[in-house]
Amino acid sequence: MFKSIEMLPDIFWVGVNDWSIRSFHGYHTTRGASYNAYLIIDEQPTIVDSVKHQFASEYIERIQQQIELTKIKYIIANHAEPDHSSSISALYEVAPQATIVTNSKCKEHLDIMYPSLIAAKWLIVDNQTQLSIGKRTLSFIPTQMVHWPCNMFTYSQFDKALFSNDAFGQHIATSERWVDQHPIDDIIYLVKEYNANILAHLPVLMRKVLSNCNKVKFDFILTAHGVSWRGAALDLVLAEYQRFASLSYESKVTICYDTMYGSTEAAALLIAEGVQQAGARAELVNLNVTSLTTAALHLYDSACFAIGSPSMNSAMMPTISALLCYARGLRLLRNKYGSLFGAFGWAGTPVMNNLVEELVKCGAVVSDVKTQWKFDISNQTKSILVAEGLKLGQFALVKK
Ligand code: FEO
Repeated sequence: MFKSIEMLPDIFWVGVNDWSIRSFHGYHTTRGASYNAYLIIDEQPTIVDSVKHQFASEYIERIQQQIELTKIKYIIANHAEPDHSSSISALYEVAPQATIVTNSKCKEHLDIMYPSLIAAKWLIVDNQTQLSIGKRTLSFIPTQMVHWPCNMFTYSQFDKALFSNDAFGQHIATSERWVDQHPIDDIIYLVKEYNANILAHLPVLMRKVLSNCNKVKFDFILTAHGVSWRGAALDLVLAEYQRFASLSYESKVTICYDTMYGSTEAAALLIAEGVQQAGARAELVNLNVTSLTTAALHLYDSACFAIGSPSMNSAMMPTISALLCYARGLRLLRNKYGSLFGAFGWAGTPVMNNLVEELVKCGAVVSDVKTQWKFDISNQTKSILVAEGLKLGQFALVKK
C-alpha cells in the first residue's frame, strides 16, 4: 500500500511523514515532521537510516515495494537518536542477513538502546572506510554533535549525493521530497527554526562540517528531516549554514518578556521603540502567548536581546525561567549583549540578581538593568527605556 519515491536513479525515499506531531522533544512542530530514510538499489542493496518505531511497518512496506527484504545487504545508521534508529530492530527482524553499518560511537549508543541488536552483524566504519556496494562506493564523514556525538554523513560519489541526516533538515511533514517543490522562503524559514532549536549550540562544529563538505563534490543533499536539496537552493542552504557557523547576526534585537498587569509589557514596547528609532529591527516575544520554539528562532539570529520579567512570588515568571533554561542549552545568548527590565515590588532586587546570575550562566553580557514598580509613571522613565532600546539597536547595527 505504501510506496517508495525514486529521488535519484535507484535511490528511493522509504521514510514517513509524521503529520500530527506537535512536540518534538519540546520543539513546537506546527508543520509536523518527516523521518527520511533511503533505499539504494545496487548489487548490495543498502538502507540509509530508519524512522520512529511507531512507523516501522510503513517504512518496511515502502522498502518491500522495491525489493525483497531478504536482499538487503546493509543498513546504515548515521545517527542513534530514536527518530532515526528505533525501527532498525523491526527491520533487522525481517532482514536478519543484513549487516548494520555505523561508527563506533553510534554503536555504543545503539547497544544501550537496543540490546536485541548486539548479536547482529555489524560493520564499524570511520572516515577512512570505503564501502563498495556495487557500482557505488560509499564513504563516511564524521559530523560529531550535529546533532549527537555519534552523527556522520554517508556520501555516494557515484550519485554526488550526501546523506546528511539531521544537518540541513527542517521540521515539516510534506508529500514533496525536494526543496524546489516548495516556496524557498518557507523552507529557509524552517531551516532557521530547526537550527535555532536543534543545532544552535554548535557553530564551531558546524564550521568543521562545512569544511568536511568542501572536501567532497555533491549535487544533492538527502536529509533525514523535511525536504532534500538540489539545484540553486543548495547554495542558499549552504549560505545559511555558513552564516550560522560564522555567528553573523541580523541587526535585530529580540525582546522577550512576560507581564502580569501590563507594566513590563509597557516597558518592552518602549525599548522596542528605541530599537526602531536606531534603525534596527525589534522583535517582541510575549512568552505568555508565544512558544519557546519561536523565541529561540528570533534569538538565534539576533545581535542583541532584552529580557523582561515582573516578580512573582519572589521569583521571576516561570516562562522566563523556562526561556533561560532553553536558551542556555542551545547557547542562544552566548556572547550576546543584552538588557534586563521588569516591574517589581518589594522582591525586585533578588529577582533581578537571579536573572543576572542566570544570564551569566548563559554566557550573555548584561549591559543594563531597568526596574520600576510601574513603567508608565513618568515621561522620564519612558525616556530611559527608549534610550535603552536605542543603545541596543545601535549595538545591533554594529554587531551585524
Ligand atoms: Fe533527527 Fe538528532 O535526530
